[in-house]
Amino acid sequence: MEKRTFLKRMGQLAAASPFLMHPGATAARSLDATAHEVGPAFPSGTGVHPPKPFVTGSRSGSPAALRGLQGNELWERVRADYELKEGYINLESGYYNIIPRPTLEAFLEKVRMVNREGAYYMRTVQWENKARIAARLAGLLGCGADELILTRNTTESLDMIIGGYPWKAGDEAVYAEQDYGAMQMQFGQVAARFGVVNRVVSLPLHPASDAEIVNLYESAITPRTRLLMVCHMVNITGQILPIRKICEMAHSHGVEVLVDGAHCVGHFPVDIPALDCDYYGSSLHKWLAAPLGAGMLYVRKEHIPRIWPLLAEHHREPTDIGRLNHTGTHPVHTDLAIDAALDYLEALGLERKSDRLRHLQRSWTEPLRGVKGVRINTPEEPRRSCAIANVGVDHLTPAGLADVLFDEFGIYTVAIDGAGVRGCRITPNVFNTEAEMEHLVEAITTLAARG
Ligand SMILES: Cc1ncc(COP(=O)(O)O)c(C=O)c1O
Repeated sequence: MEKRTFLKRMGQLAAASPFLMHPGATAARSLDATAHEVGPAFPSGTGVHPPKPFVTGSRSGSPAALRGLQGNELWERVRADYELKEGYINLESGYYNIIPRPTLEAFLEKVRMVNREGAYYMRTVQWENKARIAARLAGLLGCGADELILTRNTTESLDMIIGGYPWKAGDEAVYAEQDYGAMQMQFGQVAARFGVVNRVVSLPLHPASDAEIVNLYESAITPRTRLLMVCHMVNITGQILPIRKICEMAHSHGVEVLVDGAHCVGHFPVDIPALDCDYYGSSLHKWLAAPLGAGMLYVRKEHIPRIWPLLAEHHREPTDIGRLNHTGTHPVHTDLAIDAALDYLEALGLERKSDRLRHLQRSWTEPLRGVKGVRINTPEEPRRSCAIANVGVDHLTPAGLADVLFDEFGIYTVAIDGAGVRGCRITPNVFNTEAEMEHLVEAITTLAARG
């Protein structure tokens, strides 16, 4: 579509919606809560317009077709697998990943099947199917099927370990102020409940070496430290931490390591035994692109008997990880759809996916590093990040930047303002294009020049 035609169409749509007549902070922040059908208009006065490819997919079919494709042909095909909302560029896949059509169709079929079969399904193959899918996921992560369970999300996985750890008064835990809030609150709760002492470190935005990070965590360890929680990828900056080295250091002090891998499974290759951690949790509705409400928890075999389950389960052997997986009746079709998400990932190829995501991130961060008035809050070394990065503009607050990116340039991001990080988190996904990343570069450059 010609740029002029595109803008004219957007203008017509804008006039039809009260929301679009008043784009701004409130509208941008309430995106999740509104059911509006069109996005913002893009005022022609800015000189920077969204790129052409706001196409939404209309194709459906087997993901197997992706295997034989390469380069642009592959990524155009992948984009066509997604039904994207028109009117803005979604650069906030860090919250969760929307799912491609083949996974969506498989999910909807599972919803129908479970509804058709009813209690018969639940009383016959429900648990067998869940165990089979958990075992397939364990294969992807290199761990034993007897060490992994499917949960609802990372919060459930990690909070089960933090809350169910056999704490004694005076025991200590270590984590970072850049960690996710839910886990920090759970550590606060075990402090209040069991007398645990929490020691909190603050991660550098641009570490000079792995040793700098390892030493930082080590500096917080005392003879009373029992558990150290660390993000595999810090959600607010996208920084990847040297987990293996942190585990080696912690184990040398007799400290167990809980890894927050919320953003890692399905984002880049994760080999849990190679990380040598004790516990690992992730959300499968993030980068595995499974439907909402899917997560996983790995517990090293020898630790299984020591953890108190979130919901009691007394019919199993202490070493059976199933004792940590009592759920009550829950949306079993979500568990089943993890299979389809794994099919899609396998057809796409995890290495190809992470290479593409890192490429998209670097395609916008590289041109902006060193631009006056712009801060990239994510390390430059390629191995220290993948899809996610964070950018600040000196004369704008993070919320102000998020608002103007959305209102003026049609780019949806999220503002981060805390724990030493001030900027917008930018998270492209496999459906985003290089043209969209160029549009982001133009937008940030334009905004920085106004300072
Ligand atoms: C680092 C990190 N940990 C944990 C979570 C919690 O994930 P969920 O809401 O899926 O439980 C998130 C969510 O964004 C996160 O970024």
